[in-house]
Amino acid sequence: MGWFECNRETGHVIGLLLASSHLYGSINSSSSLFSLVHLQRLDLSDNYFNHSQIPCGVGQLSRLRSLNLSYSGFSGPIPSSLVELVNLRYLSLRGNYLNGTVDLNMLKKLKNLTYLQLSNMLSLLGYNDTNDAHLDLSSNMLQGSLPVPPPSTFDYSVSVNKLSGQIPPLICNMSSLSLLDLSGNSLSGRIPQCLTNLSSSSSILNLRGNRLHGSIPQTCTETSNLRMIDLSENQLQGKIPGSLANCMMLEELVLGTNLINDIFPFSLGSLPRLQVLILRSNLFHGAIGRPKTNFQFSKLRIIDLSYNGFTGNMPSEYFQNWDAMKIVDADNLTYIQADLEFEVPQYSWKDPYSISMTMMNKGMTREYKKIPDILTIIDLSSNKFYGEIPESIGNPKGLQALNLSNNALTGPIPASLANLTLLEALDLSQNKLSREIPQQLVQLTFLEFFNVSHNHLTGPIPQGKQFATFPNTSFDGNLGLCGSPLSRACGNSEASPPAPSIPQQSSASEFDWKIVLMGYGSGLIIGVSVGYILTSWKHEWFVETFGRRQPKWRRKAKRGHRG
Ligand SMILES: *[C@@H]1O[C@H](CO)[C@@H](O)[C@H](O)[C@H]1NC(C)=O
Ligand SMILES: *[C@@H]1O[C@H](CO)[C@@H](O)[C@H](O)[C@H]1NC(C)=O
Ligand SMILES: *[C@@H]1O[C@H](CO)[C@@H](O)[C@H](O)[C@H]1NC(C)=O
Ligand SMILES: *[C@@H]1O[C@H](CO)[C@@H](O)[C@H](O)[C@H]1NC(C)=O
Ligand SMILES: *[C@@H]1O[C@H](CO)[C@@H](O)[C@H](O)[C@H]1NC(C)=O
Ligand SMILES: *[C@@H]1O[C@H](CO)[C@@H](O)[C@H](O)[C@H]1NC(C)=O
Ligand SMILES: *[C@@H]1O[C@H](CO)[C@@H](O)[C@H](O)[C@H]1NC(C)=O
Ligand SMILES: *[C@@H]1O[C@H](CO)[C@@H](O)[C@H](O)[C@H]1NC(C)=O
Ligand SMILES: *[C@@H]1O[C@H](CO)[C@@H](O)[C@H](O)[C@H]1NC(C)=O
Ligand SMILES: *[C@@H]1O[C@H](CO)[C@@H](O)[C@H](O)[C@H]1NC(C)=O
Ligand SMILES: *[C@@H]1O[C@H](CO)[C@@H](O)[C@H](O)[C@H]1NC(C)=O
Ligand SMILES: *[C@@H]1O[C@H](CO)[C@@H](O)[C@H](O)[C@H]1NC(C)=O
Repeated sequence: MGWFECNRETGHVIGLLLASSHLYGSINSSSSLFSLVHLQRLDLSDNYFNHSQIPCGVGQLSRLRSLNLSYSGFSGPIPSSLVELVNLRYLSLRGNYLNGTVDLNMLKKLKNLTYLQLSNMLSLLGYNDTNDAHLDLSSNMLQGSLPVPPPSTFDYSVSVNKLSGQIPPLICNMSSLSLLDLSGNSLSGRIPQCLTNLSSSSSILNLRGNRLHGSIPQTCTETSNLRMIDLSENQLQGKIPGSLANCMMLEELVLGTNLINDIFPFSLGSLPRLQVLILRSNLFHGAIGRPKTNFQFSKLRIIDLSYNGFTGNMPSEYFQNWDAMKIVDADNLTYIQADLEFEVPQYSWKDPYSISMTMMNKGMTREYKKIPDILTIIDLSSNKFYGEIPESIGNPKGLQALNLSNNALTGPIPASLANLTLLEALDLSQNKLSREIPQQLVQLTFLEFFNVSHNHLTGPIPQGKQFATFPNTSFDGNLGLCGSPLSRACGNSEASPPAPSIPQQSSASEFDWKIVLMGYGSGLIIGVSVGYILTSWKHEWFVETFGRRQPKWRRKAKRGHRG
C-alpha cells in the first residue's frame, strides 16, 4: 500500500510513499517513476527488489529532499547519478545488499545531506581524488559499522556519528593515515592490536567517547609519530602499556574516565615533549613517590590525576622538577595542535587539528577547544594523598590552577603558595589542614577562586585584595576561622594584621601593575576578571573571561610599551 502527495496548486506529485508495498522485480531506468521530476520525497523502503540494482534514473529526480531505499533488497553498486540529488537531506540505504565502492567525494557534493544511513553490508567506502584522501564524515548520522576507507587514506574522521560494532583490524591497512578520529560514536569491543602499525604514520589517535573495553594495546614503536592520543570516556581496563613510553613525539595523552587500574606511569616521564597528561577518573592507585631522574616530565604543564586512588605524600620532588610549569612569561601564544598537511599536485595546505580538553577549573567543568601552551594546571583532587603540602609547591611558578581538594592532607597551608603569582584558582577544601591561612596569600592578585572549606584551620582570615571577593562558603567548616566574610568576629588576640602592601615592581617585573590596579578599581573587586596572563616583552596580554562555561582565550589588543 502506498500513497502520493500532491502540490495543491500545481497538481504535481511531490511525494511518493511506497514503503512496505510488497513491490518486487526491478525498476527500469526508463520507468515512468523518473518522469515525476517534482518529487521531493521518495520512499521505496521495505520491499523486495532483490537482485536488482538501484536504478540510475533516480538521479533525474533532482528536487528530492528525502530518499528512503532502506530494507528494499537492492544489491550491487550505488549509482553515481545520486550526485545529481543536490537537495537531498535524508538518504537511507540501510539494510540492502549493496557492495562496491561509494565515492565519498560524491557524497560530499550533497551539501544539504544531514542524515545519511548506509547499508550495513557496505563496509568499503572508497574515495578517489588524487591518491591521498582527506575524509571527514564527522557530525553526521552515520549508523552501522565503521566504514573503512581505502588504504591510501591520509586522514579519516568520523567523529560524532552513531557508528557501532567493533573497530575492524582492516583499519590498520591505512598505512598513510595521519589522523584517525573515531570519537563520539558507540564503537565497542577491543581496540585492535594492529593499531601499533598506524603509529608510524599517524600523529593523532582519537577514540574518545565510545564503548571500547579491554586493555590499551601496545601503541608505539621507536619510529612512532603520534603526538596526541585520546582514549578517554571508554571502559578501558588493565594497565598503561609500556610501549607508550616509546611515543617520543607525544604531547598530549588523555586517558580520563576509563577503568585503568595501574600505578602512576613513571615511564612516561622520559617523554621529551609530553605537555598534557590526563588520567582523571580511573582506578590508579599507590604512591607517586620520587622521580627517577631529574628530567621527568620536564615539558608537562597540565596534569590531572583527580578521582583516582593515589595515596602517599604529595609528589614534592616532582613539583621541583616540572620545569615547563615554572615558565611565567610565555613568549607567544600557540596551541597544542598538529598541522595535517595535504599535498595534491600544484596545491598543498595545512589543516590544524587540536584535541579538546575537558577539565574542572574554578569549580566548573570547562571545555578547552584548544589548549593554549601557556595553560598550566595541577589537579590532584579526590585521591587519598596524605601528609603535608610541601614547600616545593611554590616552584611551578607558572601555575594558574591548583586543586588538592578532597584528600587527607594535614599540617599548615605553606606560605610558599604565595610564590605562584599567576594562580587564578586554589582549591584546598576537604582536607585536614590546620593552623592559619598564610597572610602572604593576599599577594595572589589573580586569584579568582579560593576554597579552604572543610579543614581544621584556625585564626583570622586574611583581609583585603582578592580576599574581599571570596564568599563565606570558601571558608565553611573550619570551626577555628574568624573574620570577614564569616560572621564570627575575631577576638583581639586573633585580629588580622594589615594586608601587606602590593609587592614592588622589581619582584614581578613581568607585570604591568597599572593593569593590575585597573582590576582593583576602587579596591573592592566583585568577581571581576583579573585573570590574565601576561607575555612580558612581546607586549601582549591575554585574558580569560571569568564565569563562562567555555572560556575562550582571547587575544587582547596589543599592550603598549611600559612607560
Ligand atoms: C525509511 O524506511 C524505514 C523502513 O521502512 C523506516 O523505518 C524509516 O522510518 C523510514 N524513514 C523515514 C524518514 O521515513
Ligand atoms: C529480499 O530482500 C528482503 C529485504 O528487503 C529480505 O528480507 C529477503 O530475505 C530477501 N529475499 C531474498 C530471496 O534474498
Ligand atoms: C540546501 O538548503 C538550502 C537552505 O534550505 C537551500 O537554500 C538550498 O537551495 C539547498 N540546496 C543546495 C544544493 O544547497
Ligand atoms: C557485488 O556483488 C555481486 C553479486 O554478489 C558480485 O558479482 C560483484 O562482484 C560484487 N562487487 C564487488 C565490487 O564486490
Ligand atoms: C580512482 O583513481 C584511479 C587511479 O588513480 C583511476 O584510474 C580511477 O578512474 C579513479 N576512480 C574514480 C571513480 O574516480
Ligand atoms: C590488509 O593488509 C593485509 C596485510 O598487509 C593484507 O593481507 C590484506 O590483503 C589487506 N586487506 C585489504 C582489503 O587491503
Ligand atoms: C602490522 O605490522 C606487522 C609487523 O610489521 C605485520 O606483520 C602485520 O601484518 C601488520 N598488520 C596489518 C594489519 O597491517
Ligand atoms: C613563537 O612562535 C613561533 C611560531 O609558532 C615559533 O616559531 C617560535 O619559535 C616561538 N618563539 C619561542 C621563543 O618559543
Ligand atoms: C577541585 O576538584 C573537585 C573534585 O575533585 C571539584 O569538585 C572542585 O570543583 C575542583 N575545584 C576547582 C577550583 O575547580
Ligand atoms: C617562596 O616562598 C617562600 C615562603 O614564602 C620564600 O621564603 C621564598 O623566598 C620564595 N621563593 C622564591 C623563589 O620566591
Ligand atoms: C568550597 O568547597 C565546598 C566543598 O568542599 C563547596 O561546598 C563550596 O560551595 C565551595 N565554595 C566555593 C566558593 O566554591
Ligand atoms: C554566610 O553568609 C550568609 C549571607 O551571605 C549568612 O547568612 C551566613 O550566616 C554566613 N555563614 C557563616 C558561617 O558565616
